Amino acid sequence: MKVLVIGSGGREHAIIKSLKKNKRITKLYAAPGNGGISADAQCVPVKVVDIHAMTEFAVKESLDYVVVTPDDPLAVGMVDALEEKGIRCFGPKKEAARIESSKVFSKNLMKKYRIPTAAYETFSNYDEACQYLKSGIVSFPAVIKADGLALGKGVIIAEDLDEALAAINEIMRDKKFGQSGDSVVIEEYLKGPEITVLSFTDGKNIIPMISSMDHKRIYDGNKGPNTGGMGVIAPNPHYTKEIAKICEKEIFIPTIQALKKEGCPFKGCLYFGIMATEKGPMVIEYNARFGDPEAQAVLSLLETDLLEIMEAVTDEKLNEIDIIWKKEHAACVVLASAGYPSAYKTGCKINGLDSGGGAGKERILIFHAGTENKNGEFFTSGGRVLGVTAAGQSLESALGKAYDAVNMINFEGMYFRRDIGRY
Ligand code: AMP
Ligand code: GLY
Repeated sequence: MKVLVIGSGGREHAIIKSLKKNKRITKLYAAPGNGGISADAQCVPVKVVDIHAMTEFAVKESLDYVVVTPDDPLAVGMVDALEEKGIRCFGPKKEAARIESSKVFSKNLMKKYRIPTAAYETFSNYDEACQYLKSGIVSFPAVIKADGLALGKGVIIAEDLDEALAAINEIMRDKKFGQSGDSVVIEEYLKGPEITVLSFTDGKNIIPMISSMDHKRIYDGNKGPNTGGMGVIAPNPHYTKEIAKICEKEIFIPTIQALKKEGCPFKGCLYFGIMATEKGPMVIEYNARFGDPEAQAVLSLLETDLLEIMEAVTDEKLNEIDIIWKKEHAACVVLASAGYPSAYKTGCKINGLDSGGGAGKERILIFHAGTENKNGEFFTSGGRVLGVTAAGQSLESALGKAYDAVNMINFEGMYFRRDIGRY
């Protein structure tokens, strides 16, 4: 079987490592992949949103299966285009991917189907958004969200009216996030621990994966600007059996039923970003894909063959499969370039990957996110560079192994959080 994974991050590396265990796969491709991925798959230089080039490649190589991983190819309809050419895919079609690509769509869906989420209003008119903020109805802090995709940066928590008006101005007038800011959501600020639950769904059945906890802020103590994610632990200690039960009944099943009723059943990995508030679990966001770096930690605990599960999703036979998880804990620590999530330097040599980095050692996996391979040596090429992931019998042991491996690796300006799993 010839399989292509679209994407180039640590998440894609984790998916590729899992797929590699399947004996039916004879050839694995990544588009575009990265330096580390090139050791596990053949990298092809096709842009993730280039539908024409991607379908052409898929047809020319007679690919049997394509895993569409990042948000932007899903949002532009990569799955629709590949399926039109008769190529089987893992990932939602464009209409279903709106659950991530349009916050107005997802908020309205939740309202219509009574799925618990923060109270909100949506605006496509700048003056009306400002009037609403000034009306006295809104309490602060308030949360302002650009409607469309914004690399995880389209959410602003405004402490007061001035900050909120400035945010609206940046999003709707200055177009800081381009067309993603044509509409905005203004919503209630929620408090509580955040929980990520990734799930497999074939549009009719849904199977939640092991829960996880991302660490979005750049600095220790959950301070500083938001990033794509600086580390993960799985399972999430805040995800009690009781919360899981409520989530399943009030959030997970209602969401897939809602999408089906709206005529856009979701097939793929549906990401639930949940806040465990005093009033119960509420949806903070949906993503139409695996989280990065959540996937690195969660998939390292997966016992069942990933391709078998993905194909069951595609064939709408998820009810026929049992998914088994290791009864262990996983931790992933992201090593980033100094300056990330703002400007950073690239091209720095990475040392310690073979000898001390622990790759291949007991239950330690080093996923490459932003690396380049030059004649067998690795150099940094992105903001998030590596995801050092370990599993163990306890959270402490998983964290201990991950940080031991981190200590063996170095590159100029290497930055990581030292408090993953402490929240
Ligand atoms: P998102 O891009 O939607 O994941 O949002 C980024 C982060 O903003 C989330 O992980 C939360 O920490 C925070 N956030 C989003 N919505 C809210 C909200 N309604 N109340 C409090 N924090 C929020
Ligand atoms: N780590 C958060 C995300 O993938 O959106």
